[in-house]
Amino acid sequence: MRTQVGIIGAGPAGLLLSHLLHLRGISSVVLEKRSRDYVERRVRAGVLEQGTVDTLIEAGVGDRLLREGLPHHGIELRYGGEGHRIAFEKLVPGRAITVYGQQEVVKDLIAARLEAGGDVRFEVEDVAVHSLEDRPYLTFGGERLDCDVIAGCDGFHGVSRPSIPPGVLKTFERDYPFAWLGILAEVAPSSEELIYTRTERGFALHSMRSPTISRFYLQVPPDATVEEWPDERIWTELKARLESVPGFTLTTGEIIEKGVTPMRGFVAEPMQYGRLYLAGDAAHIVPPTGAKGLNLAVADVRVLTEALATFFRDGSTGPLDGYSAACLKRVWRAQHFSWWMTTLLHTFDSDDDYGRRLQLSYLDYVTSSEAAATTLAENYVGLPW
Ligand code: PHB
Repeated sequence: MRTQVGIIGAGPAGLLLSHLLHLRGISSVVLEKRSRDYVERRVRAGVLEQGTVDTLIEAGVGDRLLREGLPHHGIELRYGGEGHRIAFEKLVPGRAITVYGQQEVVKDLIAARLEAGGDVRFEVEDVAVHSLEDRPYLTFGGERLDCDVIAGCDGFHGVSRPSIPPGVLKTFERDYPFAWLGILAEVAPSSEELIYTRTERGFALHSMRSPTISRFYLQVPPDATVEEWPDERIWTELKARLESVPGFTLTTGEIIEKGVTPMRGFVAEPMQYGRLYLAGDAAHIVPPTGAKGLNLAVADVRVLTEALATFFRDGSTGPLDGYSAACLKRVWRAQHFSWWMTTLLHTFDSDDDYGRRLQLSYLDYVTSSEAAATTLAENYVGLPW
């Protein structure tokens, strides 16, 4: 079997790449080790930058996103008994974010690929990458797929990155001494906007998926398990953290999904080797506080699509050679922003009183200085694409 681009992973990066390549007349095969049902149900982030929304609309997969996505023109930072609105419409006029679940993006992309006759294979076993320097090919479940180029879109734990020979990549890593417990609940959001809360008990986030589904996160110890968090404990803790301003009541409901997400920053450089190009979480991870993970994956895929289009049109490898450098600037900006939001809003056991005062002082600055608030808003809605 042969294709132009062999894509490993049917998450947002792999599916979008396959779709954008199809629009340019470039063939691809997507190999996914999980089932379609699994990837369509996998609950992840839900904040789309304008550049991500525009990309999906331009690619013809934005209809449901436009109907069901929730545009947001601000977020709230809550700490010290007060809420402070970061007003995008004032600080970054004309720019906003859209709340739309990542698994909804995945569903829309799978539907578009299948409708166009795309080759997306689920539950494939033992995917392996070969001969990256010259004539690359993939093997899986006893089959062989020859490719001109391979795209590694298989996430942080995938097979792509480890298939690069030792010593080629330099990796940069930061682990945080906490995790996020995330839940989905069948209850209307208690606020129209996202609320990022810093309390002495730890961080909490109020988010949403639809007018009837809320999404919440709690800062928990790094080794926390969902078994330790029965529903009642979750609601008690969410209330203790979020009901920290007068007059705010959190509405509770049935919890329909629970998971623990580790908090990590990670970058592998360069994001390519031979004929293999890494995109999304396969190359970099951000802590979710800045809501950048999915948006970075989409940005990578846009760059890679352009580079591949040039390559398949006239054989020129210039843009492909520059792929990693073109992506890493945005990747590192997002790393910094995500680290900054994380340190601003979480409690660190290692922090002393001095450290806590510094954190509160910074929060006061961000919520009172227009320049500082603009820095947050501009990064949150996403820097220009
Ligand atoms: C989410 O709704 O899942 C979400 C929102 C904001 C974040 C992270 C996750 O920073």
